[in-house]
Amino acid sequence: MERLIISGGVKLKGVVTISGAKNAILPILAACILNKSPLVLEGVPHLDDVKTIKEVLEALGAKVTWNRDLIEVDPTTICSPEVPPALMRRMRASNLVMGSLLGRYGKVKASYPGGCTIGSRPMDLHLKGFAALGARVQEKHGFIEAEAPRLKGTEIHLDFPSVGATENIMTAAVLAEGTTIIRNAAREPEIVDLQNFLNKLGARIKGAGLDTIRIDGVSSLERKISYRVIPDRIETGTFMVAAALARGEVLIKNAIPKHVEPVTAKLREAGVKIREEDDQIHVTGVERWNPLDIRTFPFPGFPTDMQPQMMVFLSLAKGTSIVTENIFENRFQHVGELRRMGAQIHVEGRSAIIKGVPSLTGTAVEATDLRAGAALVLGGLAAENTTIVEGLQHLDRGYERLEEKLRLLGADIRRQR
Ligand code: EPZ
Repeated sequence: MERLIISGGVKLKGVVTISGAKNAILPILAACILNKSPLVLEGVPHLDDVKTIKEVLEALGAKVTWNRDLIEVDPTTICSPEVPPALMRRMRASNLVMGSLLGRYGKVKASYPGGCTIGSRPMDLHLKGFAALGARVQEKHGFIEAEAPRLKGTEIHLDFPSVGATENIMTAAVLAEGTTIIRNAAREPEIVDLQNFLNKLGARIKGAGLDTIRIDGVSSLERKISYRVIPDRIETGTFMVAAALARGEVLIKNAIPKHVEPVTAKLREAGVKIREEDDQIHVTGVERWNPLDIRTFPFPGFPTDMQPQMMVFLSLAKGTSIVTENIFENRFQHVGELRRMGAQIHVEGRSAIIKGVPSLTGTAVEATDLRAGAALVLGGLAAENTTIVEGLQHLDRGYERLEEKLRLLGADIRRQR
């Protein structure tokens, strides 16, 4: 079992470069299915989740070659509309190919994606969207089958601004007959990146980033293009908190300040010094920081994917903070592990009350999901003596070379195989 060994207390200093966004590359790779020509994606992060979506595309029959941060996809050889159940269980985001398969081939079959530790994560909004576009949707024996000779554009109002449902409906609508309007759409930057990618292929989409998205159906997409994905705003936020927590001074390059505004606002409120430039952010930590009230909401609210990392930061604030998780019903798995490091956190329903302590103590901890793992690594950076983090399979899904990037900032961290 691999583990990270971290000796805490080092003030981080230096420059870190952010990788491409996991939550942008996954829907964009899935959307390649819509195209009738090979295409190239740039700025692709080396993550296990990207490996998984590559396997999904190959299982459908596509040819995918991955070389450093470039991926070439040839979707012209796709011959199956069925997503292998094992891959759906391994990663929920495998479900992102469903809209493209339905839109391009008129059929998709997939098992229900496994829930994960942070919540049940149903797909009702995705399926309601497909049905509204005219697909016959059947759910039996744990499988979902959707079929339509040709989808017809319509107006869809999402009960909740679900990121995945917005993405799946967008891709299903691209080749539909007529216009589709998605209301109460998710507004995350990754939705805008997906729109920009699809429009570069010849789709006609407007409004991504706002709560209403208009898709005018086209007959086909067949351009040979290359496209660079946006930087990862959650990796950016994670390094911002790392710099603040380790009372260091870090320049974060290849970042888009606008995409992390909610995190910047909260860290400034805590007293952290942050300077934003075009594509970089400079963070200077302070000795002690103020407690905060954090409530997670869909973008542009505070991102749920930054909640665990913020909780570690607040466990060392000078006062009592409250963190309320409004997106997932079970995203406090990291609390137990942080308590073992000396944090004083009490969970009441959707809220965690965090009483700041002067220091954390290193010990052996286990990551239960991706962002909980990131939080435990941050805890190790701040803790006195040594922290051992296990469960790295979660971390490797969403962070590229995390320990290497932290070591370049002076952290005393190594992976023990
Ligand atoms: C995306 O997941 C991200 N993953 C998640 O990032 C992120 O936490 C989440 O959006 C929220 O921002 C990718 O983009 C690959 P949702 P997604 O549909 O699309 C409920 C990370 O750490 N819901 O916006 O699955 C759902 O149960 C990961 O990088 C329904 O009820 O999120 C949840 O409570 C974790 N019915 C809420 O909506 C549905 O049909 C938000 O889910 C769909 C969702």
